[in-house]
Amino acid sequence: MQQIDWANLPFGYSDSDYNVRCYYRNGAWGKIEVSSSSVINMHMAATCLHYGQEGFEGLKAYTGKDGKVRLFRCEENAKRMQNTADRVLMAAPPVDLFREMVHQVVKLNARFVPPYGYGATLYIRPLLIGTSPEVGVRPSEEYVLLMFVVPVGPYFKAGFKPVDMMICRDFDRAAPLGTGTVKVGGNYAASLQSLELAKKLGFSSTIYLDAKEKKYIDECGPANFFGIKDNHYITPKSSSILPSITNKSLQQLAEHLGYVVERRPVPFEELSEFEETAECGTAAVITPIKKIVDPVTNTTFNYGDGVNAGPVCTRLYKEYTAIQFGEKPDLFGWTEVIDL
Ligand code: PLP
Ligand code: COI
Repeated sequence: MQQIDWANLPFGYSDSDYNVRCYYRNGAWGKIEVSSSSVINMHMAATCLHYGQEGFEGLKAYTGKDGKVRLFRCEENAKRMQNTADRVLMAAPPVDLFREMVHQVVKLNARFVPPYGYGATLYIRPLLIGTSPEVGVRPSEEYVLLMFVVPVGPYFKAGFKPVDMMICRDFDRAAPLGTGTVKVGGNYAASLQSLELAKKLGFSSTIYLDAKEKKYIDECGPANFFGIKDNHYITPKSSSILPSITNKSLQQLAEHLGYVVERRPVPFEELSEFEETAECGTAAVITPIKKIVDPVTNTTFNYGDGVNAGPVCTRLYKEYTAIQFGEKPDLFGWTEVIDL
């Protein structure tokens, strides 16, 4: 059996033992099936391949200090997948089916759940695809909901260390009335060119501006943005960003810790006023930002001492991850224990 190096896990794909699948046929979801194959056998004219009828989710299971394995806000991911399904006319999986599949796939792959103490987690990737053959542009009649898992380390190699970001003005990730608020693969395809360009220039990721006016901050690659100023937690309200479950939870936590939460359009110029900035998401957790560069206007914004995360980001990170790893009581009812 392969030995897993828990301390040095990348955020990348590796095989596990099993995945779970559920098929939607004749207007109904079937029974959950367990597979040990990482291959999907599918019609070449499937709608997911041609017309982007595809949506996915990302959530994590955490081994706590007490040895119990916890899921974080699974129901929120289930509801977001339903919104995604509705937006691109796919069959929406019921929340209970989604939850049952998450529990099953974690249990079946229990040996891949990283132990407590490494900061590593089990990343769960639910995927929903349209599988019926179509040539005309119309929705599929059949769907598969599939879930696999991978043990992962931090999304950015350095972990909780500040990164550099590049403002992206040459490409939009999503349009105001487009699909930015849901998790379809097309949004990520639209982001690839700008992300590659940013990486080539030495940045960790990109910050997108609103597509219509290019005046407001939208989000950061595959994560939301927030800034801290005068004990205020400020995060963009926009019709083209993905509603991040991490961001929603951090807003609740920040309020609980005595910060004032503002969710509103964030003008580009306000970047000069923040004391701290960060991106947040399941994969990124909280990743502080030390520098934001706009190559087009030749503007640079610097945060903190350029080496360490600022005090508010550090406090939020510690409190947030302490709940996920069962080190502190979950006052918000965010976690559920998986009966392994
Ligand atoms: N924004 C985008 C585009 C994402 O892909 C993600 C990741 O899911 C997020 C934000 C963060 O969302 P969450 O906190 O629910 O993982
Ligand atoms: C997540 O945070 O779960 C994401 O979906 C990011 C992923 C696209 C890498």
